[in-house]
Amino acid sequence: MEYYARIQETADYIRRVTQDFKPEIGIVLGSGLGSLADELKVIYTVYYKDIPNFPVSTVAGHKGCLLFAELSSGKRVVAMQGRFHFYEGYAMKEVVFPIYVMKYIGVRTLFVSNAAGGMNPAFKVGDIMLIRDQINLMAHTPLLGPNDDRLGPRFPSMHEPYTLSLLRLAQDVAKRRGVDVKTGVYAGVTGPSFETPAEYRYMRVIGADAVGMSTVPEIIAAKHMGLDTMGVSVISDLGGGEVAVEVSHEEVLAAVEKAVPVLVGLVKEILESL
Ligand code: HPA
Repeated sequence: MEYYARIQETADYIRRVTQDFKPEIGIVLGSGLGSLADELKVIYTVYYKDIPNFPVSTVAGHKGCLLFAELSSGKRVVAMQGRFHFYEGYAMKEVVFPIYVMKYIGVRTLFVSNAAGGMNPAFKVGDIMLIRDQINLMAHTPLLGPNDDRLGPRFPSMHEPYTLSLLRLAQDVAKRRGVDVKTGVYAGVTGPSFETPAEYRYMRVIGADAVGMSTVPEIIAAKHMGLDTMGVSVISDLGGGEVAVEVSHEEVLAAVEKAVPVLVGLVKEILESL
């Protein structure tokens, strides 16, 4: 079945099992950020394994379900608990499939979160970075191949990959709450190996503040469809300094866990004020 038809079939299924819930905001919960979901009033949980055409998540710490939920403002959201990474072996078009589906169930704004390695020397482990731009170092894009004009244009503009007004809003909310947030550029790589010292330095030189293995494809898909976008990284480790440090997945998760309470409060208020 063609991609567009699969998207529609999946959207139909989701509408059916959620009684036409119609979320306005789509949320992608990154590594270790699943507990953001505890703040949501979940109305329906739909497991990836039950959703026609959905890939199934395989990484430790990633749960595979869509949460259909309400914020305290009554605003409706859908959260992906567990995302699909390119390094797991999925095709780019599979990685972003849920993002395309989101649009057809009502989503107009995509909020993505991730854990990322920090290269900006001003960053510390546990920092929260609002993403203002991205660099695609994956050498792949979900838009390769014939374009389906029903989804978006052949040559989508990426002049504002992260919606500026939303970035400003997030900065304002952070200021009001007294949360020190950084703002920076996210470089997306395939992984799964972490960066070599030379690679971290290279990314710093080309203008990246943080690096991770996700987000870039999802934002490209969102922009293809004209969605508004917002992104936040938790800095889970630091690369590119004078001394090379070893990173492990467990350390990444532990660092994120510490930042989560602050992040959760911040994100909640940002989403409420959208
Ligand atoms: N590099 C790539 N991906 C990551 C990192 C990193 O240092 N930390 C968390 N995800």
